[in-house]
Amino acid sequence: MSADYDTYRRALAGRRLPAAFVDLDALDANLADLRRRAGELPIRLVTKSVRCVAILRRALASSPRFQGLMCYSPAEAAWLASLGFDDLLVAYPSVEPDDLRAVAAQVRAGRSITLMVDSAAQVRRIAANARDEGIVQPLAIDLDMSSDFPGLHFGVLRSPVGGVDAALALAAEIVRHPSLRLDGLMGYESQIAGLMDDVPGQALRSAVIRWLKHRSIPEVNERRRATVAALKAAGHALRFVNGGGSGSLESTRADASVTELAAGSGLYVPALFDHYRAFEARPAAGFAVAVTRVPRPGIVTCAGGGYPASGPGGADRMPRPWLPEGCRLVGTEGAGEVQTPVRVPAGVSLAPGDPLLFRHAKAGELCERFNELLLIAGGRVVDTAPTYRGDGRCFF
Ligand SMILES: Cc1ncc(COP(=O)(O)O)c(C=O)c1O
Repeated sequence: MSADYDTYRRALAGRRLPAAFVDLDALDANLADLRRRAGELPIRLVTKSVRCVAILRRALASSPRFQGLMCYSPAEAAWLASLGFDDLLVAYPSVEPDDLRAVAAQVRAGRSITLMVDSAAQVRRIAANARDEGIVQPLAIDLDMSSDFPGLHFGVLRSPVGGVDAALALAAEIVRHPSLRLDGLMGYESQIAGLMDDVPGQALRSAVIRWLKHRSIPEVNERRRATVAALKAAGHALRFVNGGGSGSLESTRADASVTELAAGSGLYVPALFDHYRAFEARPAAGFAVAVTRVPRPGIVTCAGGGYPASGPGGADRMPRPWLPEGCRLVGTEGAGEVQTPVRVPAGVSLAPGDPLLFRHAKAGELCERFNELLLIAGGRVVDTAPTYRGDGRCFF
């Protein structure tokens, strides 16, 4: 179903606003797109970009090509394991003692939870916990996939494991501990996967980003390939090599050492995923706020709406007015703490009580603002599902 204000307005009639929703028809089409874009490779679902158990279950049930979860905290992985999910990879290092113990309890109960490391210090902390808990804890190595160009660091600042030598040294440290097992490697090229490269009105910047991506892709794919080859040659059997994200499936799978891709944002397709050359965005999630007053012709003011996204503060982190088409935030106020003025285009008339639809800039963060998602299919609300927040879970 394509986005259409009247359809959503009818679907949301009688619902208390603000309300967040997922359009299941669009979601299912996005899942099919991700499968197609992934070629033959399985896709591990990035939970931070979903944050709703029912949607995770729906995606996993939609095709055997969706395999396993990429979690953002050990506590989250332990909780999801307790709900019956399996094959959980925590993508970011953590040595929180309570969280490690929660993971150990699930590993002891037979669940597969792999923790991420990029330093000997983390390895030693996790090894001590695993030893005390009487388990063998699987670990994965986070390979840095950024490109350092002259005068420009193209990528994120995360892992100090920059290639073969550092990966071999860390692998040697891991296998030194009987309470640990080296399970896999992750190389996430965020500068390819998470950076829009075809933004209307930013032709020059987009062209530069495409050029930088074009230079970075072969370099980082080769780094990941060489690192995997060296680990294998040193006798380390890797169960998986994970790479990529919703914005990079095509280029990540060009690296033959990758055994699985990661994707999460491609389910809801938030505003920061609107403009990629590689794929067509189909929004599947949003939130509706109610118009409460009309301060002057051409402007309506809505209750709520101030849900900016994380990252470098800027206009692109603001929620984006979506439907009716042509609405815009007001520069002097932005999206407000309890109310949000919106400029409406000529010909659009909204009265108190009418919904105005927004999209969040990022995918999963929407769910930190709402207890439940209204699930829309065939133009009507067919169900509701608690978000992580609605389940009483907050991991950061
Ligand atoms: C380690 C890692 N892998 C993959 C992804 C891709 O997730 P998404 O598909 O939601 O962009 C991310 C997102 O930040 C990530 O941190």
